[in-house]
Amino acid sequence: VARLRAGEIPIVEAGLDEVVHDAVAAGRLEFVVGAATGAEGADFVFLCVPTPQDDDGSADLSYLAAAAAEIGPVLKAGATVINKSTVPVGSTSVVERVLQRPDVSVVSNPEFLREGTAVHDFLNPDRVVIGCDDTTAAERVAALYAPLDAKVVVTDAASAETIKYAANGFLAMKISFANAVAAMCEAVGANIDAVMNGIGSDARIGPAFLRPGPGWGGSCFPKDSRALVAIASQHGYDFSMMRGVISVNDEQHERMVRKVAAAAGRGVAGYHPLEGVRVGALGFTFKAGTDDLRESPALAILRRLAALGATVTGFDPTTAGGLDDVQAARLAGFGVAPDALGALADADVAVVLTEWPEFAALDPDKMLSVMRGTALVDTRNLFDPAVMRAAGFTYDSVGRQ
Ligand code: UDX
Repeated sequence: VARLRAGEIPIVEAGLDEVVHDAVAAGRLEFVVGAATGAEGADFVFLCVPTPQDDDGSADLSYLAAAAAEIGPVLKAGATVINKSTVPVGSTSVVERVLQRPDVSVVSNPEFLREGTAVHDFLNPDRVVIGCDDTTAAERVAALYAPLDAKVVVTDAASAETIKYAANGFLAMKISFANAVAAMCEAVGANIDAVMNGIGSDARIGPAFLRPGPGWGGSCFPKDSRALVAIASQHGYDFSMMRGVISVNDEQHERMVRKVAAAAGRGVAGYHPLEGVRVGALGFTFKAGTDDLRESPALAILRRLAALGATVTGFDPTTAGGLDDVQAARLAGFGVAPDALGALADADVAVVLTEWPEFAALDPDKMLSVMRGTALVDTRNLFDPAVMRAAGFTYDSVGRQ
């Protein structure tokens, strides 16, 4: 809170510092310690706390319940409490129960922001979803979004909560589908870029979220896809399709590991099959534009390579200034270089794991000149295969010949 008051934004998020700075300067935004302090006297209270994953894949609602318990006694009569946290179906009634305030309406309003483009996504939503059985409360919340001129979907709370999980599950399914088709393309001699362009041009399918890669990750898709399976199972439905989406993703990590092993002329069987192999990794974060390392496919792949005996050194633009404690803990076991070429120094295999534009701009000759080997595994299809091969790389990517 002290850092936020000083105008310091502790995460990488495009445009967020300006928005926060302007609002603080204009006296419209302040940071306080304690939910009750923030909620006292407010007409609208947004709950935006994390709902991390429990051991069985279900969402842990303890932060939500704690916040509701804290604000319940101080809310003014007729206030509206809006839940933005991703919660299992039925959680709106949990908040109502904990609040113990029949004079306060609770509305579900899931958020669909992507990390890295959160400000843009907030200001340009495809839709705003509002879930509440009390239509006047729903209209009050819809009015808050009127300046955005977005489509507003008003429904009951259970449907709003389901929309959030189903949207993330569907997007994860699109990516797993692209990754599965990429595996097929490699086998049959097709090209994934052409195939996804071809199917994405069908308006019923759409081009978004069909980019193949090392698998999806981050703080939402892995957690929400597992929660979807858990919620369905708790209600007696085996969501086998979603289980398949998740296992295709796990397999994708392993497919990338096998590509790196093959590029080093090794397999993945036996004890420490990658002993003596030096891997130079480009990218640690789960996608470009964020410093978030949670559930990063890059780290899952690198941890597996290290477990197979490889020596891993990597670089990410968000670790260029040194590591904070969280980053140091998540990157334990890997060397962290001060720049991209440093990560590739003496590497047998270079592996691209995050699609940072600065990696695409690297000079292939310089990359090769610092490496010990000539193998490049590009899990983000960031480079042009013909260019990299002409430069002298033994090049492999995802779903392309
Ligand atoms: C996601 C949802 O998009 C957002 O609506 C929700 O509110 C939170 O979860 P985010 O986790 O920030 O947002 O990342 P997103 O941009 O959706 O990417 C998720 C993962 O999928 C990343 O690992 C990314 O690299 C991967 N991805 C995405 C692909 O592999 N291919 C694609 O075509 C798109």
